[in-house]
Amino acid sequence: MATSSRPTDPKIPATKQPGVRLLAKVPLFSGLSQTHLRALAQLAEEVRYSPGRMIVRTGTPGVAFYVIVEGTAKVVRGKIATAKGTWALGPGDFFGEMALLDGGPRTASVVAETPLTTIRIERAPFRQMLKAEPDIALKLLEVMAARARGLMAQPSL
Ligand code: CMP
Repeated sequence: MATSSRPTDPKIPATKQPGVRLLAKVPLFSGLSQTHLRALAQLAEEVRYSPGRMIVRTGTPGVAFYVIVEGTAKVVRGKIATAKGTWALGPGDFFGEMALLDGGPRTASVVAETPLTTIRIERAPFRQMLKAEPDIALKLLEVMAARARGLMAQPSL
């Protein structure tokens, strides 16, 4: 069957192709034309996670990039039990870009706090999207700079 929707097993997230209207509501993609949104929809998946689900694990290779459409998640630095720092992410925020950009391991874990709806884009289409869409690349860099600035301002890190 063509669809990868698996709603019956709560451990396996259900996935489907996101609608153009959903993508247009995501600030990262808000500058894209309908044609480009339709092209993006072909590359992306809409994936839902249950609360407590670890979506990205520190130290593992990067496979995909995520943008949160609905719900909240927590970025946890270090082991969950002895977390050295956490950051909250909500609708419009993204995660998972670092390992896809530099090829290194995941720098942190990301855990769903509430039921979470995400747009998931795998490594090759993510990099292809950045090359094709300079406005998206710029927005991504702006957020990454703000995150780096936040980290620099924390004397304990
Ligand atoms: P990546 O290293 O691929 O996987 C873990 C993700 O956590 C990372 O990409 C970022 O998207 C995110 N992340 C890391 N540090 C921070 C931070 N200081 N604030 C918000 N998100 C972060």
